[in-house]
Amino acid sequence: MQDENDITGATPRRRPKASVLEIGGRRLKPSTLMMGYGYDPMLSEGSLKPPIFLTSTFVFENAAAGKRHFEGVTGKRPGGAEGLVYSRFNGPNQEILEDRLSLWEDAEDALTFSSGMSAITTLLLAFVQPGDVVVHSGPLYAATETLIARILGRFGVKWLDFPAGATREEIEGVLTRARALGRVSLIYLESPANPTNALVDVEAVAAARQALFGDERPPIAIDNTFLGPLWAQPLRQGADLSVYSLTKYAGGHSDLVAGGITGSKELINTIRLLRNTIGTITDPNTAWMLLRSLETLELRMTRAGENAAKVCRFLRDHPKVESVGYLGFLEEGSDTRQADIYRRHCTGAGSTFSLYLKGGEREAFAFLDSLQIAHLAVSLGGTETLASAPAAMTHLSVPDQRKQALGITDNLVRVSIGVEDPDDLIADFDQALGAV
Ligand SMILES: Cc1ncc(COP(=O)(O)O)c(C=O)c1O
Repeated sequence: MQDENDITGATPRRRPKASVLEIGGRRLKPSTLMMGYGYDPMLSEGSLKPPIFLTSTFVFENAAAGKRHFEGVTGKRPGGAEGLVYSRFNGPNQEILEDRLSLWEDAEDALTFSSGMSAITTLLLAFVQPGDVVVHSGPLYAATETLIARILGRFGVKWLDFPAGATREEIEGVLTRARALGRVSLIYLESPANPTNALVDVEAVAAARQALFGDERPPIAIDNTFLGPLWAQPLRQGADLSVYSLTKYAGGHSDLVAGGITGSKELINTIRLLRNTIGTITDPNTAWMLLRSLETLELRMTRAGENAAKVCRFLRDHPKVESVGYLGFLEEGSDTRQADIYRRHCTGAGSTFSLYLKGGEREAFAFLDSLQIAHLAVSLGGTETLASAPAAMTHLSVPDQRKQALGITDNLVRVSIGVEDPDDLIADFDQALGAV
């Protein structure tokens, strides 16, 4: 307990009452803890829900406390700020959100950001220096590829990639070549990859790194936007940092843009120092909306996942459909490498998939223009079903040869299934296919 006359610098500010994590030896599930963890109503006039703290700065108890805070913020003292300092560094809504986000993957700590891309940018700037090599799986979300190749490339950063689904031997081969080019400072993965849905074998990546690197091991970060945190928890397979566009399933209502990273305290603190400097933290209002979203995360994702399974089974058998790229079909007795990774790494197939229609752009557009429940928009993971044509929209600028290699053909429709009634969705897809 803090002595209020202590001017040695430790903050005497009241801390929230510790949250209950266990009852009778039973560890409480994240879905239960989302309703209260990390927030003490008694510190906010008894308000059941946390207020939105709209302030740019926080008052120190005394000058020594102010100095101690800044020692934490600037890294002169390990462990970061012990209290609230300035809203570019932290805030109550963001801290509660970060505490709750880390629960889903049983991570030591988490940070939240103004977008998925600002999370990824802050991560890369925290670990990568000029002359370093980034090894990544491919493909990555297009803006992440641009960031690594074209923007970090301007600062002398090199990169090498291996295809998602590569074996341990293939990954070791790429890491060996990368080491010959310079210091490998980060291994960056995305699984399932956007837009191919190809899975990365995180266990194989961790084993390859273990075999090649001693104490100077580059961290493994993975974009877990598509299946996390419910259906994939890559920290359990050997990743060090799990990265999110919280804009998608975590936010879940297509009404905010945000990002997150979870992992060990040590790595998170390295990223935190950079976030403190450049100010890529999420804002209090968005953090509050995300707290609300996390309360229904499991409900929403579970329903969307069940809906997608039903819709995909209907689509697969439709005469106007060429094929459906849905992870759930990997479960059906298939013996491929992707099926093996799926069984080891995933507990669900998600609700985002690729629908290949018979025909080309004309058929894809006729289908999209006929949808009445599903909305024609990019993005994914919202309560509403979305559909788009990547070749003509998100991936329009990708060179034709690369589009072909990634299966981004003119007849591809990307679908993200929401939480509507599944039979209503099937009726909508059925009538839209009828219009093709
Ligand atoms: C896999 C993946 N990672 C990162 C991002 C970027 O997230 P944001 O749009 O929140 O910056 C996206 C956006 O679509 C994505 O699909």
